[in-house]
Amino acid sequence: MFEKVLHPTDFSDCSMRALKYVLGLKKAGTNELILLHVVDQRSVRYCEAVGLSLLRKLETDAGNRLESLRRKLEDENLKVRTEILIGIPSVEIPKFAEKERVSLIVMGSHGKTMTQEILMGSVSENVIRRSRIPILVVTYKTAQNVV
Ligand SMILES: Nc1ncnc2c1ncn2[C@@H]1O[C@H](COP(=O)(O)OP(=O)(O)O)[C@@H](O)[C@H]1O
Ligand SMILES: [Mg+2]
Repeated sequence: MFEKVLHPTDFSDCSMRALKYVLGLKKAGTNELILLHVVDQRSVRYCEAVGLSLLRKLETDAGNRLESLRRKLEDENLKVRTEILIGIPSVEIPKFAEKERVSLIVMGSHGKTMTQEILMGSVSENVIRRSRIPILVVTYKTAQNVV
């Protein structure tokens, strides 16, 4: 049922908690995982030359972090792929999930900003609004060592 899972990550603690649940889902048939980071195009709004080089830097950094995550998952008996997109995260994540025909999106309730007073972050809220694919939202309160 959950063969192909998409984990959108901003590399935050909450996102890492969500990733742990993907490992637990192997028992439910998960055998393929895509790790996706979206470089937020809105974080770059300077003059073109500076903006472009900043964008390239963000892309390279994200690529390195995704690759290091992928390596950590090497012994997990999962087919793992990494992907970087540039755009608005809450738009790109559901679009990509549909294009790839994933069976489930596993993400954190919060991310880097981590405002605990808010029920969930704007990326998770807007992905939930847009997605036609089921989503597992892992909160920052979730106990660890679940897998
Ligand atoms: N740029 C991004 N690329 C991919 N996934 C993201 C990105 N930003 C957030 N996410 C996903 O959305 C979850 C919630 O993050 P977000 O809504 O941004 O919360 P916050 O407002 O606390 O930063 C994260 O745990 C992660 O799974
Ligand atoms: Mg965020």
